[in-house]
Amino acid sequence: MTKIQKPANTSVPISDLLANRWSPRVYDPTHEITKEQVLRLAEAARWAASGNNAQPWRFGFALRGEELFESISTVGLTGFNATWAPHASLYVLAFADKFKADGTELDRNSAYFNNALATSQIVFEAEAMGLKAHYMGGVIHDEILKLVGIEDAWLTCVITIGLQGDASNVSDELKQREATPRERKALSEVVITKL
Ligand SMILES: Cc1cc2nc3c(=O)[nH]c(=O)nc-3n(C[C@H](O)[C@H](O)[C@H](O)COP(=O)(O)O)c2cc1C
Repeated sequence: MTKIQKPANTSVPISDLLANRWSPRVYDPTHEITKEQVLRLAEAARWAASGNNAQPWRFGFALRGEELFESISTVGLTGFNATWAPHASLYVLAFADKFKADGTELDRNSAYFNNALATSQIVFEAEAMGLKAHYMGGVIHDEILKLVGIEDAWLTCVITIGLQGDASNVSDELKQREATPRERKALSEVVITKL
């Protein structure tokens, strides 16, 4: 049984939760997430910060085995995502509202930015629960919006969540991607002021 860990090789220490999060593609296809765990993820998102506390986000949750999950697996994923994502226990569908409560249009950049904060809380809550999460932008937006029947929001991403699986018994391509080291720009490249 090989469960790959990829702690961030940081130049200064950061919290374990942040350092240990990474985006695996090998999930245990027998693991099932409970409704209580899904509610905990939704609650984590609900308490994200947002401009004017507008909370311009909504989430859909599709558990493996449910019709929505299977439909997304069949028609909603692009490229390599279609090969590994269906082994996850859960798809989180993240939507950014197009309209405010009073019906006026929301700025897309602002709605996406707020949405990213809430999705990030889901990902870290999953990590705190001993699960692993992986964002996917490579999804077929129109198909997924059609499946859930939503017209007044943008689909920003789908997040896979599940229990990390055995990486010794997967295709060579998956094995190789799973083993690829996590790399980042140097701290000096992203900090633009003198420290
Ligand atoms: C908005 C967004 C979209 C992403 N889309 C995909 C995707 O479609 N497929 C995929 O395999 N990984 C996807 N990723 C995962 C990134 O490739 C990954 O986070 C990045 O390489 C850094 O690796 P790490 O998360 O393991 O640190 C996405 C990540 C983000 C934040």
